[in-house]
Amino acid sequence: MTVTWKDYLSAHKGDAETYRECCLRFREAFEQQRTNITRVFEAKSPKVIACLGAGVLNDIPYDLFVRSGAKVHLVDWMPSSIEAGIGLSIIDVDENGCPRCVYCDPSVECPEAYCRHYRRQKSSDTAVCDEYKQAPSDPPRCAAFARGDEPDVRYEDVTGGYASEFGHRVSQTLRGVRTWKQAFVEISDLAQRVKSHRTPLSIDDDSVDLVTSSMVVSQLDEEPYDYFSYRAGELLGRPKQREESRLLPSMEALRSILLANQVERHCEEIKRILAPDGVCYMSFEMFHFNPEAGQWFVVAGMSKALAIIGRWFNFNFDIIAPNETLATFDRGKAPSLVGSFVLEPKAA
Ligand SMILES: C[S@@+](CC[C@H](N)C(=O)[O-])C[C@H]1O[C@@H](n2cnc3c(N)ncnc32)[C@H](O)[C@@H]1O
Repeated sequence: MTVTWKDYLSAHKGDAETYRECCLRFREAFEQQRTNITRVFEAKSPKVIACLGAGVLNDIPYDLFVRSGAKVHLVDWMPSSIEAGIGLSIIDVDENGCPRCVYCDPSVECPEAYCRHYRRQKSSDTAVCDEYKQAPSDPPRCAAFARGDEPDVRYEDVTGGYASEFGHRVSQTLRGVRTWKQAFVEISDLAQRVKSHRTPLSIDDDSVDLVTSSMVVSQLDEEPYDYFSYRAGELLGRPKQREESRLLPSMEALRSILLANQVERHCEEIKRILAPDGVCYMSFEMFHFNPEAGQWFVVAGMSKALAIIGRWFNFNFDIIAPNETLATFDRGKAPSLVGSFVLEPKAA
C-alpha cells in the first residue's frame, strides 16, 4: 500500500498521550526559546501574533499572549498537534497545589471565546471556572476544556505550499524510475519545478506584529526529504553500501536545494504577513556537537540559510544581544548551539 504524503504527515501525529509525553520530555529543553520570545514580546507589545511551527507549544509563552489580549494565530502542519498543545498549556498549579486556568484569569476579557465550556466562577476563591475537571495527567489538564474560536488554529504549510507540493508530487515523479541515480535526477528536477507553486498561509498581508519561527528551519532539513527517501526505498529497496557512497553527493545536493527553497519560501511568507514595523523571532540549530570527534560542526545548509534570511530581513541585535544569540540546546542526545535572531523586514 502506498503511503501518501498526507498519510505520512498524519503518521507523525501522535495521539493525546504521545503529545503529552512530548511536552513532558521537551518543554524544559525549550525554556530558552520561551524566554527569548517573552523578551521580544515585552519589547514590542504586539497586538497580533503568528506562531509558525507552533506544534505542541513547547516553545511558546502562550499564557502571556492570552493575558495580553493579543490576537493569536497558531500554525503547524501536524494534524491536531496545536489542540493538544493548548490543552497542555493553559493549566498550572499554584504554590498550594490548586489549579489555575489561563482562560479563567479575570484579566482575560472573553473567556468564552477560548473555551466553549467556560462557566463564570461562583466563588472568587478559585482560579478555575465551575466546569473545571482535573484530568488524571501530568502536566495538569482540564478534562472539560473545549476549544472556542480563539486562538486562530491553522494546519497549513509555513513554506507557502512548497514543501507540501513537493511531498504530494513525489510518488508520481518516482513512477517508472528504476534506479536510485534516476530517482535523484527526477526528484532534484521536481524540487526546482515546485518553486512555481504557491499556497499562502491564510493570514492577511501586513497584518502581524510578531511572527515566531522557533526551531522550524532546523526541521526543514528533514521533511520532505525523508518522505522522498522513504518512498524511494519502498520502490527500489535500500541502496547497497557501495551504491550509497556513490549517491552521497546527489543526496547532499538534493537536501541542500530542498532546504534552501523552503527557507526562501518561509521567509517570503513571514515577510508577506508581517506589518512593516513588525518583527520576527527566528531560531534554529547552527552547530551540532559530535561527541566521538569531540568537535562542534556547522549544521549542513545553515550558513546558506542565514544568507537567505539576510536577503529578506535586517538583524536587530538590541532585543537579543550578540552575546546571547547562541545558546546550548540539549534534548538528551548530543547538544547543539541554537542561533536566535530578531528580524525586521527589509523595505521592498
Ligand atoms: C522543532 S518543532 C518546534 C517546536 C514545537 N513548537 C513544539 O512545541 O514542539 C518544529 C515544528 O515545525 C513544524 N513544521 C515543520 N515544517 C513545517 C511546514 N512546512 N509547515 C508547517 N509546520 C511545519 C513541525 O510539525 C513542528 O511542530
